Amino acid sequence: MSNSIRKKLVNALLSASDDEYLSGQNLADVLGCSRTAVWKHIEDLRKLGYEVEAVKKKGYRIIRKPNQLSEEEILFGLRTSFIGRNIIHYETVDSTQIEAKKFARNQAPEGTLVIAEEQTQGRGRMAREWHSSKKKGIWMSLIIRPKLPLEKAPQFTLLTAIAVAKAIEEVTQLRPEIKWPNDILLDGKKVTGILTEVQGEPDHINYLVIGIGINVNHTQDDFPEDVRDIATSLSIQANNSVSRVALIQSIMQYFEEYYQLYVEQGFVPLKQIWEKYAISIGKEIIARTVSGNIYGKAIGITDEGVLKLADNQGNIQLIYSADIDI
Ligand code: BTN
Repeated sequence: MSNSIRKKLVNALLSASDDEYLSGQNLADVLGCSRTAVWKHIEDLRKLGYEVEAVKKKGYRIIRKPNQLSEEEILFGLRTSFIGRNIIHYETVDSTQIEAKKFARNQAPEGTLVIAEEQTQGRGRMAREWHSSKKKGIWMSLIIRPKLPLEKAPQFTLLTAIAVAKAIEEVTQLRPEIKWPNDILLDGKKVTGILTEVQGEPDHINYLVIGIGINVNHTQDDFPEDVRDIATSLSIQANNSVSRVALIQSIMQYFEEYYQLYVEQGFVPLKQIWEKYAISIGKEIIARTVSGNIYGKAIGITDEGVLKLADNQGNIQLIYSADIDI
């Protein structure tokens, strides 16, 4: 079955409501083929993991979808105008971040989403390994091209964090917290990491590649031993499996909404949303920076998204980049 037939067939079947059947003739018309060919295509769809019910005189309907991030399922029902509308999907890839940077260099359109079921060289901040096991999580990188000076790039980490936090809340009803700048926590454990990489000149950004890693349907045993105590997944916290497709769609929608808000009104309205999720503010923290550790109380972020820390001498320090221990 060709890709375009598969997309048309899945789209047609998905567009039917839950208990609605699509007749063989109806599908034959959509695909421009015979009813016998429809039957063969349905067989191929089953081989891809779709459970399709066929009832005489009624037709076909999907009763279970495979645990697969297909382009058509993500696009189906995605309410964005440009974020996530161009999807590049891999079964296995070294890192979506590496691939997305190649696409960005080759003029991929703004909003392009590179996504993988599995990464063999997933990387986090400070070049740390990012464990990305097959079909358990969301491993994706988004390309954007904001018309802004380079110094604004770190704000997109915070923008992304609130888009992901909102989406997690919407899809799972859990209440995530954000640890500046880029960790999303549930029950004090890390569920999401964000890695923002930028290419540009001092006065303008050429592109940003925003890598997002979310532990979705992991059990505690799925994590490697070194992070087992500090990592968690949505399904562990929700006590239920979570739809990766629904979560991606929600993230794309919130991201586009906040991006537009940012373009129209700047960072301040996003800062207000960010603060509602912030975990570190008001707490004694250690900021581990490249030039050493700074101890003090996190008192907030500036209108630019930079962390403000009151150190033990009472001085206000601005932290642009650090790992935070609470
Ligand atoms: C961190 O918390 O250190 C950031 C983790 C970012 C991981 C994501 S998964 C998708 C994308 N591809 C990568 O190799 N890394 C990012």
